[in-house]
Amino acid sequence: VSDMLGAARASGGEERMTDALASCRRCPLWQDATQAVPGEGPLDARLMFVGEQPGDREDLEGRPFVGPAGQLLDRALEATGIVRSEVYLTNAVKHFKFVPRGKRRLHQSPNRDEIDHCRWWLDLERERVRPALIVALGATALRGLTGNGDGLLKRRGKVEMSGGQPIFVTVHPSYLLRLRDAEQRQREERAFHADLKAAAEIAA
Ligand code: URA
Repeated sequence: VSDMLGAARASGGEERMTDALASCRRCPLWQDATQAVPGEGPLDARLMFVGEQPGDREDLEGRPFVGPAGQLLDRALEATGIVRSEVYLTNAVKHFKFVPRGKRRLHQSPNRDEIDHCRWWLDLERERVRPALIVALGATALRGLTGNGDGLLKRRGKVEMSGGQPIFVTVHPSYLLRLRDAEQRQREERAFHADLKAAAEIAA
């Protein structure tokens, strides 16, 4: 992997990075996943969004945020005037973690070891894109980015410096998807939109 990575760094080539990522064996998650899902977006993006890990759809398609959480994120981006194709989207963990349940694959949150092993790839993306601001979507992203994902709600809406880069903290779109009460969901969606708007203004 490190030889391929050297080549990826030297050439800046997306394909080489994707090849190197595909052969990653830093943690066991590669064994059951269909494929590793790299980040996507322009390398000169001012905003980078970091989610948790690919879901079922992302695992099959090989692209981040194309399933239900991605659709919610798309709506939030649109509502706040952020153009998806202009931002870099990635995840703290690059392989889908799940347990089979009949024909379905049920999402499992990555553990601390998996997040910490995958930080190597996230750091590489941070170094290549060098965005003006990184948005941490939820606690897994926050751990991947800062080494500590505790106290998400207390840290929400604020900017923290980590690795010399500013990190803006907010919730994961899946948190909104899980809310069953319509009023609460509306309230939380508005708060999420306000966070994204604040992040876009900081990055502008
Ligand atoms: N949830 C994430 O955190 N990332 C994705 O890519 C999809 C769903």
